[in-house]
Amino acid sequence: MLYTAIVTGGTRGIGAAISVMLKDSGYKVAATYAGNDERAKRFHEETGIGVYKWDVADFEACKKGCAAVEADIGPVGILVNNAGITRDGTMQKMDHSMWQDVIDTNLGGCFNMSRAVFDGMRARKYGRIVNIGSINGQAGQYGQVNYAAAKSGIHGFTKALAQEGARSNITVNAIAPGYIDTDMVAAVPEEVLEKIVARIPVGRLGKANEIARGVLFLVAEDAGFVTGSTLSINGGQHMY
Ligand code: CAA
Repeated sequence: MLYTAIVTGGTRGIGAAISVMLKDSGYKVAATYAGNDERAKRFHEETGIGVYKWDVADFEACKKGCAAVEADIGPVGILVNNAGITRDGTMQKMDHSMWQDVIDTNLGGCFNMSRAVFDGMRARKYGRIVNIGSINGQAGQYGQVNYAAAKSGIHGFTKALAQEGARSNITVNAIAPGYIDTDMVAAVPEEVLEKIVARIPVGRLGKANEIARGVLFLVAEDAGFVTGSTLSINGGQHMY
């Protein structure tokens, strides 16, 4: 049976590629987004994928949102925690809200969403959770103490929840993307980005589809022995 998949931040960037690849592979998909109505509307028109608006940093909104998805298209068997933001800045320029927003969205969102679907997965004895971490959570990145801490937290979260889910046939894995050609990376100053790309052995930015490919593997029914793992997809920039 192909369960419903929820992809957070699923209407743009890496999330959009994941939503589309899952849909093309036969899954029923719900894509969430937090702010950009215009892009979400266009995404829905182009793909036919249902879009749902809520903030993953809001615990109650996640509970309500997941219940609405289940009522519309069926029990959630797959959760892809992809929603994430950056608020880059060196420590001396980082104010508390830049720290808190990134922790609440990137790491808090992962908890809030997983909590909302985990009981159902346990009851049905099936689940596939994929958390999108980052190379910068593995290696750190100048100007990103907030983002690196949140993404590093996601990698720890993944390993802990994998142990809890295992007995219920719920796998929990992470993907650690490198620098992918998305709006988020395009926001990095050009001269900084050039230096980063120069350090990628493959010699280019990654494509969103190259991350989606990894998600498709991890959510497959016959990937049940893969749990607690981190799949690095970064063009060889960091080998961990
Ligand atoms: N290592 C050591 N020193 C560095 C450095 C580095 N990597 N980067 C900058 N510096 C130095 C600069 O040389 C400069 O030193 P001087 O004052 O002596 O010249 C000092 O630090 C300040 O640098 P900036 O002038 O660049 O400082 P800024 O405050 O204007 O900007 C920044 C700092 C916000 C960190 C900016 O450099 C930046 O945006 N960097 C990119 C951060 C990044 O990679 N973000 C990833 C976003 S995409 C993403 O997160 C997705 C994913 O998962 C991969």
